[in-house]
Amino acid sequence: MTASYPNLRMRRARSSSWSRALYRETVLTPADLIWPLFVTDGEGVEEPVASLPGVSRWSVDGIAARAKEAVRLGIPCLALFPNTQPGRRSDDGAEALSPDNLMCRAIKAIKDACGNDIGVLTDVALDPYTSHGQDGLLDSAGYVVNDDTVAVLVDQALNQAEAGADVIAPSDMMDGRVKAIRMALEMGGHHNVQIMSYAAKYASAFYGPFRDAVGSGGLLKGDKRSYQMDPANGEEALREVALDLAEGADSVMVKPGLPYLDIVRRVKERFEVPVFAYQVSGEYAMIEAAAAAGAGDRDALVLETLIAFKRAGCSGVLTYHAAHAARLLGA
Ligand code: PBG
Repeated sequence: MTASYPNLRMRRARSSSWSRALYRETVLTPADLIWPLFVTDGEGVEEPVASLPGVSRWSVDGIAARAKEAVRLGIPCLALFPNTQPGRRSDDGAEALSPDNLMCRAIKAIKDACGNDIGVLTDVALDPYTSHGQDGLLDSAGYVVNDDTVAVLVDQALNQAEAGADVIAPSDMMDGRVKAIRMALEMGGHHNVQIMSYAAKYASAFYGPFRDAVGSGGLLKGDKRSYQMDPANGEEALREVALDLAEGADSVMVKPGLPYLDIVRRVKERFEVPVFAYQVSGEYAMIEAAAAAGAGDRDALVLETLIAFKRAGCSGVLTYHAAHAARLLGA
């Protein structure tokens, strides 16, 4: 039995800022943020991404500078995505396996600049390297094949781990890839390299600006619905998470973010493991467009959406607003 009005007035707790601080159930700090960065060729290059106002692709030297900035801001981890030039893309995405590719050079530059002061999370999927923009290998009918793709993803993950990646993040949604990657990392002596699996990744319309940023948008024919999840499904997400945990994922991710917070909450309640969410490119673009149109205050929108992830149960959030949010949080 709880008291009722006027003995209970819920507004009492909200009546001053010290009291609101005391009653606050969740906190957001820069340590909750993972900052995704796009890597491009050259030296001293910054290329703004048109569909992501405020986000640029950086050459490797610029990535190292962003890493130092992140350390100063208290951001614990970066996520890297390469913009592979068309001449280095192929049907089989072999560039993903080159020890000298953009990813590996960026990982090494970050580690040279910051050592272990920051974690480096690397995406495992072939779409930034394929000439067709799909995440895996195609058969003659254009279907993304599972098992042969997994074999390549394992080599891609090992290539990244050998360059110094701290967290391998498979975003491809092939079946069985977490187990295969974990086994290969163990055999390769990479016992402390973590796996954050994109366990519940939906076939979403919110990825458009990202595909521009990595240069696969114009190449992609068709869609990714034969491997990414149907946005209508929730129970299926729980099965995906259960499988990835059983295969050895250290943490799991839900993606996109805000439209899928119900999935975050269900995963957290069911499995009690570290859950992350990716506030994806289209979500970032929506906030920026709303702010530019005068439909909302940008800083307030950024902080409100990020605290919502924490409230839903996230351990952390991948967000293109990471550096801005960390500054707002007074880092
Ligand atoms: C690649 C990948 C994608 C994103 C992260 N890794 C795009 C896709 O699956 O098509 C999207 C991130 C974003 O939109 O910010 N497999």
